[in-house]
Amino acid sequence: MTRSPIEPYLPALRARAAEVMQQAHAPYSHFKVGAALLAADGAIIGGCNVENASYPAGTCAERCALGTAVASGHRRFQAVVVCTEASVPTPPCGICRQALAEFGLDLEVVSVTANGQEARWTLAELLPHAFTSSQLHSR
Ligand code: THU
Repeated sequence: MTRSPIEPYLPALRARAAEVMQQAHAPYSHFKVGAALLAADGAIIGGCNVENASYPAGTCAERCALGTAVASGHRRFQAVVVCTEASVPTPPCGICRQALAEFGLDLEVVSVTANGQEARWTLAELLPHAFTSSQLHSR
């Protein structure tokens, strides 16, 4: 499948990720994260981390965005932009890598910081040897 380049969408994705980061509920870690998913049709869906007094019940920004996107009918994604206030770009955590992998390992993952640093990977680079539905069906 030929994929459209994400470059034209990056300014809007960066802006949405930074905007939704401000909605983060992070009273425990004080580490606010925003994520903006680019769906195949060009829609942009945001999510933020939502922490909980019972720490493991908290959710990352990427999975918040993914759940919102899926609930809105999106199943195919081109990119996710993650925004934090860290001094260096932070990649998605392992659980989020696995969650995103459900919808395709060719996802472009871009991480931006408030001070303008940026890093970029594909999800396949971040999650090599991924466990996917193909393993479930290989019995
Ligand atoms: N966090 C995310 O939202 N995304 C990641 O990929 C890394 C971690 C959140 C979870 C928690 O609320 C805070 O950042 C500190 O780990």
